[in-house]
Amino acid sequence: TQELRLGIAGLGTVGASVIRMIARRGEALSRTGMTIRVTAVSARDRSRDRGLDLSGVTWFDDPVALARSGEVDCVVELIGGAEGAAKRTVEAALAAGKPVVTANKALLAHHGLALARAAEASGVSLACEASVAGGIPVIKVLREALAGNAISRVYGILNGTCNYILSRMELEGLTFEACLKDAQALGYAEADPTFDVEGFDTAHKLAILTSLAFGTAPDADGVSVEGISAITPLDLRMADELGYRIKLLGVAEATSAGIEQRVHPTMVPKSSAIAQVMGVTNAVTIDSDALRELTLIGPGAGGEATASAVVADIADLAAGRTAPAFGRPATALAPPARAEMQRH
Ligand code: HSE
Repeated sequence: TQELRLGIAGLGTVGASVIRMIARRGEALSRTGMTIRVTAVSARDRSRDRGLDLSGVTWFDDPVALARSGEVDCVVELIGGAEGAAKRTVEAALAAGKPVVTANKALLAHHGLALARAAEASGVSLACEASVAGGIPVIKVLREALAGNAISRVYGILNGTCNYILSRMELEGLTFEACLKDAQALGYAEADPTFDVEGFDTAHKLAILTSLAFGTAPDADGVSVEGISAITPLDLRMADELGYRIKLLGVAEATSAGIEQRVHPTMVPKSSAIAQVMGVTNAVTIDSDALRELTLIGPGAGGEATASAVVADIADLAAGRTAPAFGRPATALAPPARAEMQRH
């Protein structure tokens, strides 16, 4: 059988989980028709003990060199961040005609169109299921399962760290700081947790969902953003007394004036389905003409959940299942018309 040789750029929580999952599921994955093997890795700190067996794997200090290496057929970018090493690595891989699998929502939200064009120019795929809502396969659903639907709205809980913090503050009366520390220790938070708590991570994911739902280029700058750092235990108690919970929601809606994208803390009735979503769990609801309402709920962050989506993209590649990153050819993607923002 043929081999698919992976270069893993970035060995944080997700990178380490991907390596373990490929080792654990090797036999099942080979049913794609290819043997999947990690041949190269790169990370900033080479000396850190990650508890991984990396014997026979080539180490690169520079992820761009990994992307260009003759030992690598496919680059798995798990560095993170919209600029810098992650961007250079993905660009180098695509320019070298290598498919890329990435979990990097910030990169795709800000540079998705240019990268999708680069992938198409090289005739390779840019796969990003892990970039939104961790283990929930929402990109596949929007791209494939809902092809016959006209979508009017996509919204949900897209940041596991924020939902974890709000849930524990409400149910256990803990402080914001204590909950954030735990979310970091569990590997849910971004390297810079400001991205989580100020709503930017939700905005990045929303921009990607908007692109797939409405056939537009990702437009991160078109999202109005408010995070949860100003939410106090008193806010949660008052909401509770009124029969509500506070959730950080990302909402993208088609209006007559264009597409409205917003992220903000929202009071949701305790009896609603979305209010039941607690902890690191994410939820995405898609409103469309044929299905009316479809809700996907599942693990939204953490090593194993995110690795699940990364490995699915790798398996797709091994099996020869490819699709444009944002569901249609990059040449067909234009930035959305931005609707005037109305606060609800
Ligand atoms: N920091 C992100 C979250 C990771 O908490 O949801 C998953 O993208």
